[in-house]
Amino acid sequence: MCGIVGYIGKRQAYPVLIKGLKRLEYRGYDSAGVALITDTKGLEVYKTKGKVADLEEYVKDKDVSGTIGIAHTRWATHGEPSSTNAHPHISCSGNLALIHNGIIENYTVLKEALQRHGVVFKSSTDTEVLVQLIDYIQQHVGTDLLTAVRLALRQVIGAYAIAILDRNEPNQIIAARKSSPLVIGVGEEEFFLGSDASPIIEYTDKVVYLDDNDIAVLRRGAKEAEFINFDNEKIEHDVKTVDLNLGQIEKGGYPHFMLKEIFEQPQALQDCMRGRVNVEANNVVLSAVIDYRKELLNARRFIIVACGTSWHASLIGKQLLENICQIPAEVEYASEFRYSNPVIDSRDVVIAISQSGETADTLAAIQLAKERGAFIFGICNAIGSSIPRATQTGCYIHVGPEIGVASTKAFTGQVTVLTMLALALGKARGTIKNEDYVRLVQELDAIPEKMKKVLEQNDRIRDISRVFTYAHNFLYLGRGYNYPVALEGALKLKEISYIHAEGYPAAEMKHGPIALIDAEMPVVIVATQNPLYDKLMSNIQEIKARGGRVIAIVTEGDEKVKALADEYVELPKTVECLEPLISTIPLQLLAYHIAVQKGKNVDQPRNLAKSVTVE
Ligand code: M6R
Repeated sequence: MCGIVGYIGKRQAYPVLIKGLKRLEYRGYDSAGVALITDTKGLEVYKTKGKVADLEEYVKDKDVSGTIGIAHTRWATHGEPSSTNAHPHISCSGNLALIHNGIIENYTVLKEALQRHGVVFKSSTDTEVLVQLIDYIQQHVGTDLLTAVRLALRQVIGAYAIAILDRNEPNQIIAARKSSPLVIGVGEEEFFLGSDASPIIEYTDKVVYLDDNDIAVLRRGAKEAEFINFDNEKIEHDVKTVDLNLGQIEKGGYPHFMLKEIFEQPQALQDCMRGRVNVEANNVVLSAVIDYRKELLNARRFIIVACGTSWHASLIGKQLLENICQIPAEVEYASEFRYSNPVIDSRDVVIAISQSGETADTLAAIQLAKERGAFIFGICNAIGSSIPRATQTGCYIHVGPEIGVASTKAFTGQVTVLTMLALALGKARGTIKNEDYVRLVQELDAIPEKMKKVLEQNDRIRDISRVFTYAHNFLYLGRGYNYPVALEGALKLKEISYIHAEGYPAAEMKHGPIALIDAEMPVVIVATQNPLYDKLMSNIQEIKARGGRVIAIVTEGDEKVKALADEYVELPKTVECLEPLISTIPLQLLAYHIAVQKGKNVDQPRNLAKSVTVE
């Protein structure tokens, strides 16, 4: 939810921290702050409401010397966005500065106890309790910082990634994690900290991913970071090499990450299918299906858990798995599933889908399913994130870092992995005819080229968007595999343009939403030439008969729908179950252009954050 950065070494810390915050700003952007141990004054904390650019402006004339520091960009949970509630938080003694990503669940109890001992709180955040508790232990038990952190964290319930500076111990940063991501970059006698590797890779590709309950000590001049657990036992960690380059996390000439990521989809899908789809041999191979053949082939049922866009991909996955593998599949919102009392056991396979791999609700759903004995299969994008580590096996989607808050290429990557999974299992189970299997493999391989054809219509879609910026409501319709696409199109529009939009199965329109239709409410309908084409045509007629305005997503050369619709975008022909991979693209572009026309901040929409690591 928030982004945290840290640096200790020989460089000036401030530029490293500010650049790092900009790379992490997708995680939260309502306030930002930095703490430095400067050359002259000791511990200095600068923080302000607003974005990282506002922090830079605020800090312009301040002392930003020093080679050690921590910084934070916030997405508010407890306490409104303000400079007081911004991180870093300073302890009563003025010795400690702390940044935090996560939620401290028992902060009220801890806060009241500290207040009874005279500790005065300045902010209304849950985070401040951490720095005050550590400070209190330091002062009253007389321990060093590391011991105080360890003792404090034993009392804390909740999720956190934290980093702390102590003005009296100016040659170290202490960091710790529980249920919130934290990565350490290991350079030549220097260390970096980040909520993910993006602030680090400019300086080093050597990283350590912290595990839950790890405390890290980053000492100036040391070659290695030290790790202990809450019982003061030493922990060993392998240093990993991160496979990420700067180009992947920069805009590369695009005005927004979202547009870049939409246009990356053909390449992203090729990366996703590389080594998995072999079109010469007409085969799909997933190592997870080879390694866990028994568990997957004998599944009594699939239960797919996810949130947001990943949940929409799951709805497509359900259809793929049921149609191709003949195994019943259910889709659950992870946030509901975690508090339900699901009837599941070891014969069920739970598929958890998440771009970030850090979504708190999805992680909790996995935990519950595990406790009930289900086999857990993860589909994630962020390498080394918490969900792949919490699942028994799974597949990465390998579409590269997704930075735009509105998810785009992760959706098509997730659908591609679900397609490959269904094909691999369907073939192994003998539930798909060989000729159908071969056709699907060939068609899947051809999708990136077909995506390019859709992307070529970007200018046309931008022109369409100009006509519809007036609208306060949109309706999105689709059927079968394209119903989740309608939901996804509506979500994209809501997220970045703040226009109200509803996604519906087209046939449901007559059961209610038809009452809303007039010239003021555009209807986006995916009306491709699939088995329900005639029924979709009737839906379009019904909308037109009521004065509605139709933007139709049609199969290339379909003159009938083109003549009926007010606006249209053409899709190359493909098999029905693969259509979402291309029909989603015009809806992503439509939302993008409408938001741009309306002057909205596409990459940082209000109130949202990229990974939702809190409930
Ligand atoms: O990282 P995840 O896939 O688990 O995230 C799930 C949702 O929070 C996410 O898809 C959200 O709905 C996006 N902002 C959609 O664009």
